[in-house]
Parts: sequence; structure tokens; C-alpha cells
Amino acid sequence: MSDPRILILGAPGAGKGTQSVKIADEFGVAHVTTGDALRANKDMDISDLGLAYDTPRAYMDRGELVPDAVVNAIVEEALSQTDGFILDGYPRNMDQAEELDEMTELDVVLALDVSEGELVDRLTGRRVCAECGSNYHVDFDPPDESGICDACGGQLIQRDDDTEETVKERLRVYRENTKPVIEYYDDRGTLVRVNGERPPEDVFDEVEETIESVR
Ligand code: AP5
Repeated sequence: MSDPRILILGAPGAGKGTQSVKIADEFGVAHVTTGDALRANKDMDISDLGLAYDTPRAYMDRGELVPDAVVNAIVEEALSQTDGFILDGYPRNMDQAEELDEMTELDVVLALDVSEGELVDRLTGRRVCAECGSNYHVDFDPPDESGICDACGGQLIQRDDDTEETVKERLRVYRENTKPVIEYYDDRGTLVRVNGERPPEDVFDEVEETIESVR
């Protein structure tokens, strides 16, 4: 098979980013992530679209979804530049899922299952390197030196949307908008559920095995 086209779904904090980095490395595919793309363009002027707010930041800091018009364009452009990919953070509602059907076919759809209490702990404890983007957790995956990135020595910061209040709103938006997307792929018989409530290496063993099985 040519390079695999992989979709990873799951709630905020389920470990999509953590697993995606490993998948991209192991299978040599592009990591296409709407969250990172939007964070890199948080203050982009989208006022010409006549939407409720004029920048992605306004939506993200409230825990709401950025409008489809912005996100669909990001994904279409990114997928047009690569064969294999691990797609992380999209689709997040049924309209985006239908849009993705028009853009590409998928070889495997993974869904990471993690309980809600664990999700809140993971997100409020997450720290991210301001320089290289590496992820840590104050309890589950702390850096050698508090507040400093092991990889590049950069400063570790908390994401603006990882406060307890915004995390709760993100989980509500997930239940309402993204859970139906998981059911959509489940109904099609293409979904593989993975228990995400284990150490990252154990989750990856199953993820890797699943991807290998479709190659
Ligand atoms: P996005 O960046 O996609 O955030 P998310 O889906 O909320 O996911 P996260 O990045 O928070 O979590 P993750 O599952 O990647 O977990 P991670 O590996 O980091 O989106 C942010 C915002 O952008 C959205 O709210 C929205 O506004 C906008 N947006 C993005 N896409 C959009 C779209 N398609 N449409 C509209 N708007 C969109 O892990 C989390 C923590 O847990 C880390 O600290 C990590 O170290 C730890 N951890 C990971 N795995 C484990 C494990 N197995 N055990 C213990 N700890 C673990």
C-alpha cells in the first residue's frame, strides 16, 4: 500500500496529538492538525466572512469551534500537498465529516476512548513548550526541570484554552458536535476504538498494530 491515510478521533485531551506525533514519525506521514494550524494563525483576520467574531482566537479561547469555512480550507490545502497523513482535530462536526468525504478516502479511522474525569486532569495539567511545541504534563509526564522543555530548553506555558472553565465548554462542544462524527464512522464499520486510558506507549502499541493491519 502507498502511505496510509489515517484519521484519529477522540475528545479534547484523549491523546490525539501525543499519538499523532508517534504515528507521523513511525509511518513517515504528514501530521495534519487543525488545532496547531489555528493556533499558529490565531489572530488571522476573518472579518470578511461576516461571522460572529473576527479572529480564530475569539472562538478558541471560548472553547467553541472555529467556523467550518476557515477550517475546511486549512484541511483541503494541507491534504492536497501530501499522500499519506495522520489527520488530527478534524472533522469535528457532521458538516466537516461530509466535507472530508469529498476531499479524500481514509484507510483507517481510530477513536481514542478516555473517561471525562481523566480528560479534565490531563488538560488542566498540560504544559506546552512555547518554542518547539513539545507536550508535557505536570504529573503524568513532567520535564526534568520544572517549567523548562527537555527537548529545546524553551519555557513551558499553559495553553489559553486549558483552564478548567474552557475545558468544560470544550467537552460540552465535543459531546454535542463530535460524538456524532464517531458514530458516523462506527456505523460505516470503519472505526477502530482504542482504550486511550493507558500509558502512551501502550496506546501506541495498539495504534501501530491497527495501522499495520490495513497496510
Ligand atoms: P485542538 O488543538 O485540536 O484541541 P483538542 O481536540 O481539544 O485536543 P487537544 O490538543 O487538547 O488534546 P489531544 O487529544 O491532542 O491530547 P494531547 O495528546 O495533547 O483544538 C483546539 C481548538 O481549536 C478547539 O477548541 C477549536 O476552537 C479549534 N479547532 C480545532 N480543530 C477544529 C475544527 N476541525 N473545527 C473547528 N474548530 C477547530 O494530550 C493531552 C495531555 O494529556 C498532555 O498533557 C499529554 O501529556 C497527556 N497525555 C496524553 N496521552 C496520555 C496518556 N496515555 N496517559 C496520560 N497522559 C497522557
